[in-house]
Amino acid sequence: MYGIMISTKIMEDSFIFKLYEGLPRQGPGSDQCTKKMFSMIPGVPDEPRILDIGCGTGAQTLALAELAGDAIITAVDVYQPFLDTLKKNGGRRGLGHRITTTCASMDNLPFDPGFFDIIWAEGSVFVMGFSNGIRYWKDFLKPGGFLALSDLVWFSDNPSPDTREFFGMEYPAMTNVRGNVDMINAAGYTFISSFGFPDSAWWKNFYEPFEIRLAEFETIYAGNEEAMALVEVSRKELAIFRAHSDEYGYQFFLMQK
Ligand SMILES: C[S@@+](CC[C@H](N)C(=O)[O-])C[C@H]1O[C@@H](n2cnc3c(N)ncnc32)[C@H](O)[C@@H]1O
Repeated sequence: MYGIMISTKIMEDSFIFKLYEGLPRQGPGSDQCTKKMFSMIPGVPDEPRILDIGCGTGAQTLALAELAGDAIITAVDVYQPFLDTLKKNGGRRGLGHRITTTCASMDNLPFDPGFFDIIWAEGSVFVMGFSNGIRYWKDFLKPGGFLALSDLVWFSDNPSPDTREFFGMEYPAMTNVRGNVDMINAAGYTFISSFGFPDSAWWKNFYEPFEIRLAEFETIYAGNEEAMALVEVSRKELAIFRAHSDEYGYQFFLMQK
């Protein structure tokens, strides 16, 4: 459920982290989407300070480090093994010296107010809730700084009953693009732009490796009730996406403080 949404109960359960270990990404996304969003930021300063919140194993952190050759990036996640993987991969790609990792919760960040030029958050704001997240993180941006994040939204006003039921359980606060833009304006940001992820950002980069990992995880933890409940809900997630991916999806949003 990481790719989409996790209930607080599952969030606290370490099985969810184990399930997503070893994957190239912990949610839908692509280097192309990261690049497209980064290119929409007007006037990126020299040596921008970038904070990547809920970085996972850091697919987008590394993409950002390559896009902004002089950026200094702080990558935050609550799960240290993800950060260890990011460190290792950053070192391999010669980007390690520009990336610092911090194990912290996104709702209790150990940084000074107004420190960052850009805050990035791919697929992680749902943990706090869209409105809570953008309001809390605003404090860490310089005046005029940018927040870029992706979130799951409804595309359909009238989704099929099983999709509605699934997200009613897993992401009850999910709204549509208009709803998120309203929250951006209400939080006092200037909304700049938004675009949706293509199917490849779901399948090739996320669900295909995820399905392989799911089968492996099922074998390793066979007989464990909690782990098998996670497998079941993950298979449901995949089935819902296969049948109804036109009804919802990931959307990138760019806003300015
Ligand atoms: C859907 S994954 C996205 C990861 C990565 N940005 C990507 O797109 O591949 C959500 C990430 O948020 C992290 N996370 C969950 N709760 C968190 C919290 N309270 N504070 C910081 N990170 C958290 C998870 O460990 C996970 O890496």
